Amino acid sequence: MSETSYLSSVRASYDAVAVDYARLSGADLDGRPLDRAMLTAFAECVRGEGGGGAGGRVVADLGCGPGRITAHLDALGLRAFGVDLSPAMVAVARRSYPGLRFEVGSMDSLDVADGVLGGVLVWYSTVHTPPAGLPPLFAEFARVLAPGGHLLIAFEAGDRRARLEHAYGHRVDLDVYGNPPDLIAGLLADAGLAEVARLVRRPGAREAGPQAFLLARRAGDGERAAREAEAGGAR
Ligand SMILES: C[S@@+](CC[C@H](N)C(=O)[O-])C[C@H]1O[C@@H](n2cnc3c(N)ncnc32)[C@H](O)[C@@H]1O
Repeated sequence: MSETSYLSSVRASYDAVAVDYARLSGADLDGRPLDRAMLTAFAECVRGEGGGGAGGRVVADLGCGPGRITAHLDALGLRAFGVDLSPAMVAVARRSYPGLRFEVGSMDSLDVADGVLGGVLVWYSTVHTPPAGLPPLFAEFARVLAPGGHLLIAFEAGDRRARLEHAYGHRVDLDVYGNPPDLIAGLLADAGLAEVARLVRRPGAREAGPQAFLLARRAGDGERAAREAEAGGAR
């Protein structure tokens, strides 16, 4: 499947399920304390509470769907906005959270300047991306993050490949990809996003396998220069 047809299938599928997805997934975080713990840690890192953050800048929730996690970030005190490929998802998000900003867009080419975001959240929104499509996405995330900015990515751990033809009571046309956490950590590192921490938990209700949450950070300018000087000295 070409990249264009993969994105148009994802868009059409999420347009079809948007209202029911929002209804059925709305309270998911309530029963998932470990997921909430990672989101809280992410929020504190973005605010710079552990040192080395990017100074409390704006955070993008990429592939925000109906906006439930964007709203959670807002409740954690972050200045968050959402971006999603699906216009129907964005319409649901705007209706549900009129005080927050949501835009239609694709996370492979964001309408965001270089190095301006304090954080990027990618909450199960790369699960339909074929493995070969991940490196350019991760490069785009690194491009928009400020030095010291943090990224949190949630995904199914493992190497499951599945084809979804029905979801949330609708016909869809989606491939679902699990990924080994080491693979994701390595690809993020290649993009300049170094792993800070990871959590892998057992599957919960309506989950097919273990779930992974990986926190990474873009190096600060000073740190990068020091590393380059060190590498130069070692030659
Ligand atoms: C499994 S849903 C997760 C939604 C949301 N993060 C949540 O947890 O409620 C995946 C979402 O990612 C979006 N998505 C997938 N690929 C995208 C892309 N290239 N750019 C923007 N959004 C994308 C889909 O439209 C869908 O809303």
